[in-house]
Amino acid sequence: MKNTISILATLLFVQFANAQEVPEKYRPQFHFTPKAHWMNDPNGMVYYNGTYHLFYQYYPDAKIWGPMHWGHATSKDMVHWNEQPIALYPDSLGYIFSGSAVVDVNNTSGFGKDGKAPLVAIFTHHNPVLEKQNTGRHEYQSIAYSLDEGKTWTKYSGNPVLQNPGISDFRDPKVRWYEPQKKWVMTLATKDRITFYSSPDLKKWTRESEFGADAGAHGGVWECPDLFPLTHNGKQVWVLIVNINPGGPNKGSAGQYFLGDFDGKTFTAYSKETKWLDYGADNYAAVTFSNTGDRMLLMGWMSNWQYANQVPTDPWRSANTISRELALKAVGKELYMTSIPAKELNSIATGGYARQNVKVKSPVDLTPKESNASGLFRLDLQAAAVSDFELVLSNKAGNEVLIGYNKSSNQYYIDRSKSGKTDFEAGFGQKHIAPRLSTDAKLALTLVADVASVELFADGGLTVMTDIFFPDTPMNTLTIKSATGITLEDVRYKVLKPEVE
Ligand code: FRU
Repeated sequence: MKNTISILATLLFVQFANAQEVPEKYRPQFHFTPKAHWMNDPNGMVYYNGTYHLFYQYYPDAKIWGPMHWGHATSKDMVHWNEQPIALYPDSLGYIFSGSAVVDVNNTSGFGKDGKAPLVAIFTHHNPVLEKQNTGRHEYQSIAYSLDEGKTWTKYSGNPVLQNPGISDFRDPKVRWYEPQKKWVMTLATKDRITFYSSPDLKKWTRESEFGADAGAHGGVWECPDLFPLTHNGKQVWVLIVNINPGGPNKGSAGQYFLGDFDGKTFTAYSKETKWLDYGADNYAAVTFSNTGDRMLLMGWMSNWQYANQVPTDPWRSANTISRELALKAVGKELYMTSIPAKELNSIATGGYARQNVKVKSPVDLTPKESNASGLFRLDLQAAAVSDFELVLSNKAGNEVLIGYNKSSNQYYIDRSKSGKTDFEAGFGQKHIAPRLSTDAKLALTLVADVASVELFADGGLTVMTDIFFPDTPMNTLTIKSATGITLEDVRYKVLKPEVE
């Protein structure tokens, strides 16, 4: 009897504890998440007829990685996303791994009909049966097309369009039109290097060259590359993004990039040194949208293979970063790529305040007077001189995320060791650091906070850090302090408030 009572009491307690849990308390509000189940890399991002399309690695049967599909979501502003039916399902050739999508304006593929340009997806088929046979030929590239704006897709009957020459990691094709030679160029991750292919019609591919066996970081396999031009002082500079897992600057997955020239055949880097796209732990497989004209917009998977399968969200796993606009900036003689929040984010900015000349030493409250219950905000601040500071994002449960700058080491940092739930993976609750690359005498930064993430864009996007966290209650208090003292010339705080669509 005693036993029965104690079992009943335990059951009641568990029920009560569960009732206390706020459902979906970690659900981001303006970062894309699937309603349910597993997501990883963004795929096939393309802007077409006024709509941004996001496809993504998706496993619709569980909250962990499994046979890959391409999920699909659409948006008018890259802030409000609408999940659509699954676009591509696994088939007899394999799972549908990462890849890209293009608008075939000239109908080079012949898939167009009645003057309508096809959307063409170029992706990796990953064959799990062949994988077990250890031939090293289980990944090859295939295509599919859509004539109804990405709603339905037809896989090409001649798949695969690019066979594997015997390289076990042979994937993630990113394709763009190379106008000077009127051909398509495919940038493909091939284990520890990038291989470039070209094609007149997206169906026949010719190997052009390779890059990287002796360049950059090699702490892990090379994945999800991208190649695109940016302009700096009237000069065209080509950017080659190479995601790498593991081997990132703060462990696990991360994105590196190289700057150089591309002549339709060969990429020649100005330097073989790695530059990091994002020093945080949570921006992987980041690549750009296609068909966005002169704007280059980047979005990544806001997670890390180190713990992606364990994060405590339910019933979904993973979110994407916000969309970021890319540009180039020189620091002395060195050129870097910068990323800042795409301006569309401001469409959800309401209220808040602007303050000038704020002197900080002991903690100063930066939360708006009328409070911000959700804790979602964008903060832009500028300091007169470069000095130590620490922003503290906190809640009533005592969780804290620290975002700061240390002058003696010249490093920015995000410390999530006391950020709430961290025990799902041993390495999660850590402090991440990033160099300050800028030599400006003033300090400027933008911070974007959602329910479970913070994105730091320092010095006009020269140093970027993205970190996720899982707080017990909303992180709705923001303070700043400075051991040495700092004067904020300008502080702008905007509450971010996405309307529910
Ligand atoms: C990167 C990656 C890709 C691959 C996909 C599989 O995160 O490993 O290289 O195509 O995920 O889901």
